Formats: sequence, structure tokens, C-alpha cells
Amino acid sequence: MARLTITTESERETKKIAEELARLLKPKKDKALVLALSGELGAGKTRFVQGLARGLGISKRITSPTFVISKEYRLRSKKTPFHFFYHLDFYRLSNKEDLVGVDFAGTLAKPRTLVVIEWAERIKSAIPKDAVWIRFKRVGEEERKLVMNK
Ligand SMILES: Nc1ncnc2c1ncn2[C@@H]1O[C@H](COP(=O)(O)OP(=O)(O)O)[C@@H](O)[C@H]1O
Ligand SMILES: [Mg+2]
Repeated sequence: MARLTITTESERETKKIAEELARLLKPKKDKALVLALSGELGAGKTRFVQGLARGLGISKRITSPTFVISKEYRLRSKKTPFHFFYHLDFYRLSNKEDLVGVDFAGTLAKPRTLVVIEWAERIKSAIPKDAVWIRFKRVGEEERKLVMNK
């Protein structure tokens, strides 16, 4: 298993790393590409997702979908080969059944789609085996460690 550790020293740096990552990712033609984010409250997951969104050409500031579970963004930007972006947050969920209402299976099956999930560790069994895991750790006031596994 490949592992990459990145240390950031500000919110801005976390967003920048995510923005650059979004531009490097290649969409899959037969299903979604999944980024599974884990880590405590305040670790920087939502800031990271905001950076991803910027890298995908989404200009509005995105917020965490804690209450709606899933937010869909249609991408029509020349900046990215992805057609859809889904931002999910499993914070309030406890099992796979909680996901039926948002058609999670349908989302995962969508081609040219990037799916990013906050609190993915809450329902590990729902995360596809080929997902990229990124674990966030708060090291200090503004220092965060991002450990990526594939
Ligand atoms: N290096 C950093 N990366 C990301 N956020 C940071 C960093 N340093 C400080 N912060 C602060 O930590 C908080 C992270 O919040 P958020 O991204 O919502 O976390 P989560 O979604 O993991 O709960 C924000 O208040 C942000 O300003
Ligand atoms: Mg969050």
C-alpha cells in the first residue's frame, strides 16, 4: 500500500494542496472516484474539500453537508474532466441503511464523478475498496498532518 504524508501549516496551505490534487486526479469512465476523509472535528476536512472544489472550477464557497448528507455539483468547467462532484458527510450516520435515501450506490456508479466523504470512518463498510483514504490529524494550532493511503 502506498502512503503519502503531507504537513500543512495553515488553512490556506491545506486548501492549496487539495486544489492541486483536484487538478491531478483522473476521472474513471465506469464509476466514481472516491476520496474518503477521516479525522476529528476541526482537523481540516471541510477546508480540504473547499480546496478540491476550487480545483474543479466551482466558484461558490461550499459548506459542509451535515444536515443533507449529500450535495451534488454539476461541473461544466473547462478546468476539469470531471462532470460531477459529490460532497458527503457521514457525521450523523451510523450504518449503511442511513444512505439509502441519498442513493449512495447510484452516486458511486456514476462515471466521471468525484465523490468526497467526510467522516468516512463512521461507515467503513460503505466505502469502496479502491477509495483513496486521507486521514487528518491536528498536530498544533495551525499544523495538520494529512496521511494518504491507496
Ligand atoms: N493547517 C490547517 N488546515 C486546515 N484547517 C486549519 C489549519 N490550521 C487551522 N485550521 C482551522 O481548523 C479548522 C478546520 O475546520 P474544518 O475544515 O471545518 O474541519 P473538519 O471538517 O475536519 O471538522 C478551521 O477553523 C481552520 O481555520
Ligand atoms: Mg467538516
